[in-house]
Amino acid sequence: MGEFAPVWHTFETRDEMVAALKTATVERLLTGVLKNGKASWAVSGGSTPKPLFEAISHEGLDWSRVQVALVDERWVGVDHPRSNEAFMKGALAKNRAAKARFVGMKTPHAVPQDAVEAVNDRYGAISQPFDSVLLGMGSDGHTASFFPEAEGLEAAMDPLQSRTCVALTAKKSDITGDEIDRMSLSASAIMAAKHTVLMITGEEKKHVLEQALQPGSELPAGRLAQMLPFDIYWAP
Ligand code: 6PG
Repeated sequence: MGEFAPVWHTFETRDEMVAALKTATVERLLTGVLKNGKASWAVSGGSTPKPLFEAISHEGLDWSRVQVALVDERWVGVDHPRSNEAFMKGALAKNRAAKARFVGMKTPHAVPQDAVEAVNDRYGAISQPFDSVLLGMGSDGHTASFFPEAEGLEAAMDPLQSRTCVALTAKKSDITGDEIDRMSLSASAIMAAKHTVLMITGEEKKHVLEQALQPGSELPAGRLAQMLPFDIYWAP
């Protein structure tokens, strides 16, 4: 184990997990708005956070003072079915949350490596450190776009990385599909956040995460767990 031990919040049902995480996230965003006049939330794509987005979109906080940005993105256009930006806007930019400011990562650059400066300029306009960061995890142990053996992984996970956003190219797998070019928050940007949550469901991912948290594991989710304290939200 590293210096930090993640805190497990386990629930009997996904509904209970979503309700608890909604409350915890709203608290963080409200605190940001009250203290600084604005708050920022970095979110992941995937099927797991979808019910959280739906539930939180009805919450009565001053969403016009909230910036919602992506944790990571596949390098595809927003009209692509696997675009995280399109997913985030579709799932969250509605009801009361429609008033939030949504920030995606994709630029017209052909490859993410050419877009790093432009994306960092864009993220420079977001209030940082993030009040809350929502991570997911794949069954390969990736989180954000920290894919095992990705090109750019060491720079992305370097605790001294000065950039907020970094480019990676994943090794193609069933989990990445064809979209291996990625932009991601760096581990150092996540380390700076005021609060970080890893949200997962199901026995398989629980098992993968337990493996990742074993000493010496090279799985990116486990490596990240040694760099910062985070809360794990899990339900079957
Ligand atoms: C991505 C996805 C991904 C996701 C996990 C879990 O950008 O590749 O957003 O990182 O968080 O693969 O996905 P599910 O929640 O759908 O299992």
